[in-house]
Amino acid sequence: MALIQEEIKKRRTFAIISHPDAGKTTLTEKFLLFGGAIQTAGAVKNNKITKTAASDFMEIERQRGISVATSVMAFHYKERLINLLDTPGHRDFAEDTYRTLTAVDSVILVIDCVKGVEAQTERLMEVCRMRKTPVIIFVNKMDLEGQDAFDLLDELEEKLGIQVRPLSWPISGGQSFKGVYSLYEKQLRLFNPDKTKISKDVVSVEDIHSPELDEWVTDEHAQQLREDVELIEGVYEDWDAQPYLDGDLAPVFFGSAVNNFGIQEMLDTFIDIAPDPRPRETDVRQVDPEESAFTGFIFKIHANIDPRHRDRIAFMRVCSGTFRRNTFFNHTRLNKKLKFANPATFLAQDKSVVDEAWPGDVVGLYDTGSFKIGDTLTEGESMQFRGIPSFSPEIFKELVNKDPMKSKQLEKGIQQLTDEGVAQLFIRELGNRKIVGTVGELQFEVIQYRLEHEYGAKCEFQPKAYFKACWIVSENEEKLEEFKRIKGTEMVVDKDKNDVYLAPSKFLLDMEIGNYPELEFHFTSEFKTAQAS
Ligand code: G4P
Repeated sequence: MALIQEEIKKRRTFAIISHPDAGKTTLTEKFLLFGGAIQTAGAVKNNKITKTAASDFMEIERQRGISVATSVMAFHYKERLINLLDTPGHRDFAEDTYRTLTAVDSVILVIDCVKGVEAQTERLMEVCRMRKTPVIIFVNKMDLEGQDAFDLLDELEEKLGIQVRPLSWPISGGQSFKGVYSLYEKQLRLFNPDKTKISKDVVSVEDIHSPELDEWVTDEHAQQLREDVELIEGVYEDWDAQPYLDGDLAPVFFGSAVNNFGIQEMLDTFIDIAPDPRPRETDVRQVDPEESAFTGFIFKIHANIDPRHRDRIAFMRVCSGTFRRNTFFNHTRLNKKLKFANPATFLAQDKSVVDEAWPGDVVGLYDTGSFKIGDTLTEGESMQFRGIPSFSPEIFKELVNKDPMKSKQLEKGIQQLTDEGVAQLFIRELGNRKIVGTVGELQFEVIQYRLEHEYGAKCEFQPKAYFKACWIVSENEEKLEEFKRIKGTEMVVDKDKNDVYLAPSKFLLDMEIGNYPELEFHFTSEFKTAQAS
């Protein structure tokens, strides 16, 4: 096998996603413990923001900034190199999570067995479905009195819109939780509620009908497990990895992250079945990871919060070929050659300079303002990776300059912050008015704080009562121009100069969709991956 194929086969690049509090941070930490990347529990900083105040957010960012390694955590596990990409827990940063999902090949979704499917889980899953990302579900907190496992599976199917297939099965739950039976490895794992040790009580029970099972659990639990497994085998098709890889079926595991329980089975199965780096679409063609020419794209930009160092780190996913240090690559949007003296990788929580990186890897590139989200690097070919859409924001506000002497700083600051993906910027060309769109209120505070502290500019935001941003295209130039003229101040352009209509209400939007059949109204900036809904 060629070296590149060997390197590709080794890699698993994924993200853990969940509704806040379901256990994402805890699970991440246990994975790192298994991978030997950290030695003690408590080493992974929780990126949870409990209070919605910019100062809290900035404090967390500052702490995280010291160790940007928390954005990507690479570790070795059984001959594999695992790249685990961190996603923000706060709902207001959902768009950041969506973008991170463009850089992974699969996802582990954590569900709280007490709360079941929660609002943010549904939205995250929508993005996975849209991209056909393979998903493994981990039902967490089995040590708490939760819902019945079969009911939970039904809820998962119904609310997440995906077929599920249990690969492990809980023996009771809550106070009487006894362990899980792995339907994949035919092993019984006994629960020992201990937060400090990794449970080693693994018993191989090939046939759960054998009396062997009764030696380990009570008659009642053994009987229940036998009945449950029989039901599972009757209801669900035999396990087949293909529908999972196609994004049509999600295997389900049960456990308790905080007690290190049920995780190793999942991790072992994960490295077995999860996809290695997959091909990716560009505007001109599909790029296969095995191609010898290097390609990659930027999916996240992490600002340096320290005002003395204005540099940022752009996170790039390698899509094909080999990335090399100190080698010129083509920044396709700017058509500019760039080379990187200190590209960083994040193995075992340490940031270190890398000489080369392979498909599936994430490399941190020091940047002084050349990059924005979605930018593509190649060895010369002109292309742009697809699938990093902007979604319609939910809150819109106009940016108002509070210090006319600092308008240049404000201009530069807002451009750079929106390049990082903190928020979306829409410009009303007449009068150069700037409308900022976000998913949550917190971003406005963060923008205001950062404009002041990093750029020395003062601003204010005036709320605008828009319902949605719609990207408008049409083959009928005349109609498009007519619509733009009639809509006047409700027409703006996004950062790439696409026409966007800021609809004041659902009623008016529906009316215009009816009035202008010649126009296409889209709710994301990229129409191939998501249809207007
Ligand atoms: P998140 O990143 O998804 O937001 O969740 P996180 O891991 O921070 O977990 C949220 C809370 O749930 C934490 O408690 C954590 O200890 C707890 N937790 C995680 N896994 C389990 C589990 O298997 N069983 C039970 N009973 N609890 C679990 P906390 O009180 O918010 O924080 P901490 O003080 O314990 O760190």
